[in-house]
Amino acid sequence: MLSVVVLISGSGTNLQALLKATDNPLFPAKIVAVGSDKDATGLTHAELYEIDTFVVEPERFSSRQAWAETLLASVQHHQPDLVVLAGFMRILPANFVNALKGKLINTHPSLLPLYPGAHAVRDALQDQAKVTGVTIHKVDEGVDTGEIIVQQSVPVETNDTEATLHEKIKVVERELLVQCVEDIANKKIVLA
Ligand code: GAR
Repeated sequence: MLSVVVLISGSGTNLQALLKATDNPLFPAKIVAVGSDKDATGLTHAELYEIDTFVVEPERFSSRQAWAETLLASVQHHQPDLVVLAGFMRILPANFVNALKGKLINTHPSLLPLYPGAHAVRDALQDQAKVTGVTIHKVDEGVDTGEIIVQQSVPVETNDTEATLHEKIKVVERELLVQCVEDIANKKIVLA
């Protein structure tokens, strides 16, 4: 059974999809803890499943480095085999990324390398892209630059707003993330 820690910053619908997947006793991964950089609404999904949560707010630390060290300690306390950034909206410094080498993945709402960063859906619309999508990738020290694991495209309709397009992407994203975690657990995808 693959032990997974999920980090979120927002509504946590990707987390919710992973939690729902674990309702099936045959699903080969379990969520052992959920962390956030703020009091994110998505933490309620973890609470419903009686899963440990932790919040490590950067504002409480004198440096990014110190924040990341405490976040890392909170993650490692749960001894995960895999750490999933599912809408975690902070850039993680090298000490965090290196300590979790081969265990850290991120889901991002675009077809990387297109539209990295915090506003991927808005950037695709501004660029008048006809197609965008979702990418699940390994995390390195850059911003959404790690090796791509899987991608799936989503067409952009002329009347799409940032909200409608992001929701369409998230429908695809949730399924892709659940499948990806299952494939990692079953060693169909090897991260190292
Ligand atoms: C997801 O679409 C995820 O790809 C995105 O935030 C959303 C979180 O949704 N992440 C990024 O943009 C990271 N650069 P959720 O809170 O409902 O799972």
